[in-house]
Amino acid sequence: MALDVVIMAAGKGTRMKSNRPKVLHTLGGRALLQHVVQTATALAADRIVVITGHGAAQVEAAVQAPGLQFVRQEPQLGTGHAVQQAAPALSPEGTTLILNGDVPLIAPETARALVEACGGQRLALLTIALDDPTGYGRILRRGGAPDGDVLGIVEHKDATPEQRGIREIYTGMMAVPTARLKQWLGRLRNDNAQGEYYLTDIVAMAVADGVPVVAAHPRSETEVLGVNSPSQLADLERRYQRQQAERLMEAGVRLADPARFDLRGTLECGMDVEIDVNCVFEGQVVLGDGVRIGANCVIRNARIAAGAVIHPYTHIDGEKLGVEVGEGALVGPFARLRPGAVLGAEVHIGNFVEVKNSTLARGAKANHLAYLGDATVGERVNYGAGSITANYDGANKHRTVIGDDVHVGSNCVLIAPVTIGAGATIGGGSTISKDAPAGQLTVARARQVTVPGWTRPRKKA
Ligand code: UD1
Ligand code: CA
Repeated sequence: MALDVVIMAAGKGTRMKSNRPKVLHTLGGRALLQHVVQTATALAADRIVVITGHGAAQVEAAVQAPGLQFVRQEPQLGTGHAVQQAAPALSPEGTTLILNGDVPLIAPETARALVEACGGQRLALLTIALDDPTGYGRILRRGGAPDGDVLGIVEHKDATPEQRGIREIYTGMMAVPTARLKQWLGRLRNDNAQGEYYLTDIVAMAVADGVPVVAAHPRSETEVLGVNSPSQLADLERRYQRQQAERLMEAGVRLADPARFDLRGTLECGMDVEIDVNCVFEGQVVLGDGVRIGANCVIRNARIAAGAVIHPYTHIDGEKLGVEVGEGALVGPFARLRPGAVLGAEVHIGNFVEVKNSTLARGAKANHLAYLGDATVGERVNYGAGSITANYDGANKHRTVIGDDVHVGSNCVLIAPVTIGAGATIGGGSTISKDAPAGQLTVARARQVTVPGWTRPRKKA
């Protein structure tokens, strides 16, 4: 049976007080709406229709999924009016699942259960009992009994004081036989407190037409929380991060504090991984067995092999090229690895060292205050404090090649393109603009002189 998903995302989000459309604010690094679209995709829906309005062009450009359709709703005259815009796009056979672009954490299992509760013939509502139901539509049941038949939904603004005492609320998600939905949408009226076309009015229509109305429930409140304000967004972000942290800990990852952990993407971990407080992982990050990440590291698009240790305050950003850290490597504290940094096994990168688009072979070390850009560094190289590759001539980038067992002294400038032969030693303070031969000492700096008889200037009397 066909399954169409309609995602409502036309609303303004006034309380966000932001120029960005509400559904494009991010949770765990992804747009709220993208979370919902991914859930719809996980259901293998035949059609996903997103209703846009406020910031439509921006929303349509920002969210993607195979076969995604957008329908515009202008002006926004209520949730019923929103679904009316989508109706022509829906297949008359089958079920329509209605989700909200600003309720990002609805689980695919819950959405699937809702669709099953509909079964192509019932109206299935996702409901939950809240301690504070203020603002929500209330579920009206026969005799007010918790298991009484559902008779309708009354919006908070239209509810009597007695109805406002009802704690069971409509979460904004439902599954409906599509043919029925189309009929009911045509009968909606806007004679209510808000002058809107309420989608929720179709519940009473179903009851009148003898269509059974059933309720399904989420596994947790988090799944049905919407984002209306920065405060709610931050609250949901913490809940989401907690979920991710729990999943990692269940798999054996040792997080020093799950409340101080942020994952904005995917994190794959081997055995015995330890992550200290305040680390942020973005994009795709892979940590091998026994990897330890110190406090306050930010790591994006990187693979860190078994046994490597990333000391505190290290920033790794692989962007598109990625970063690779080899087995047993030691990085940081205060190191910066940029796109294309590929560190071999047992490499040491120390404090205030920046590596970009460079390969360091096994055992190479750059321990202090250095820059390696567009360089190929051999095994066991020792790259001195304060040394840099001058890889950019103002127009083009050039490579520096440093052979195995080279020792580059402190405060050297290697002007690329340049090659340092294997086993060479570069004297501290050298500016190297020509290739240096293997196995020899090359020094390129003014000779030290001592000026005989020189005296310091004195203040005139
Ligand atoms: C709606 C429900 C209410 C439920 C609540 C759950 C109706 C009439 N009421 O209330 O019973 O408890 O959700 O959060 O449905 N939207 C559009 N176009 C519009 C209006 C809204 O696309 O013209 C979208 C919004 O962007 C949002 C969703 O629909 O994603 C819900 O709209 P919102 O205004 O938040 O609905 P509520 O009045 O809070
Ligand atoms: Ca709302």
